[in-house]
Amino acid sequence: MCKNSLVSISDYSKQEILEILDSAADFETNPNRKTLDGKVIATLFFEPSTRTRLSFETAVIRLGGSIIGFSDASTSSSSKGETLNDTIHMVGSYADAIVMRHPLDGAARYASEISPVPIINAGDGSNQHPSQTLLDLYSIFKTQGTLENLTICLVGDLKYGRTVHSLIMAMSHFKPTFKFIAPDELKMPDEYKMFCHKHNIQFTEETELEGNFDDADILYMTRVQRERFQDMMEYERVKNIYTLNNSMLNTSKENLRILHPLPRVTEIDADVDSNPKAYYFKQAQNGLYIRQAIVSKVLNC
Ligand code: CP
Repeated sequence: MCKNSLVSISDYSKQEILEILDSAADFETNPNRKTLDGKVIATLFFEPSTRTRLSFETAVIRLGGSIIGFSDASTSSSSKGETLNDTIHMVGSYADAIVMRHPLDGAARYASEISPVPIINAGDGSNQHPSQTLLDLYSIFKTQGTLENLTICLVGDLKYGRTVHSLIMAMSHFKPTFKFIAPDELKMPDEYKMFCHKHNIQFTEETELEGNFDDADILYMTRVQRERFQDMMEYERVKNIYTLNNSMLNTSKENLRILHPLPRVTEIDADVDSNPKAYYFKQAQNGLYIRQAIVSKVLNC
């Protein structure tokens, strides 16, 4: 097992999280340096991605490293029946670290237990997306000037959305208050509500979006995760459940910022994009600096 892996956000202490944010700020001022010269990073994406894969690859290239891998598992030998075990063993003998996205919850943990090189979880099923969480924290800190004592509304698919699950765990270090806004079919799973109880995190649950975020510092919108539904009829019922538009923001706090891990489908109207409270594209850009910090930490570079 390789100790330096990042599988779950809970693998990092509060101190380590703050160090990553500091390091990302440093990379933001100077993203081009050659600290990964001679290193090879593999990106194995068994599920589609735009931001996570391309920002990890940009991060490595800007630091002087090289990239191998696949963005479509159908072009890899997993399509011929090769096991994840064999794939990780092989790629671990070529590369210095592996960034992996996989549809199965727990796949990244399994890979980290058999891999000779560090695994960076780029999203495993509905479970965890720790690099997204670190860029979310960086975005929250940059927009609010603190991570402490914030009111955060998590909206949309709280059942299958791995980014909100990771974010709750990370924010447990910073005394947040959460409002979970979701239809009954997509409510926050009990295990994360139990986690909040255990860590003395206040939360409420709502089903309506409008009028329920006037006290929020962060409005974190999410996409309904079509790819996780077993029953497409259920997806059809909830797919357009919330759409944020500009008029709904009139009574929100001045410091409110709207985050979304992206991609969005119908959850945020395009008219919100030019609202100064919209931060989701900048949030995605922040992912580059955070991923430079993560890769550097994982490789001790
Ligand atoms: N936020 C996120 O994971 O985006 P991608 O699916 O495009 O990587």
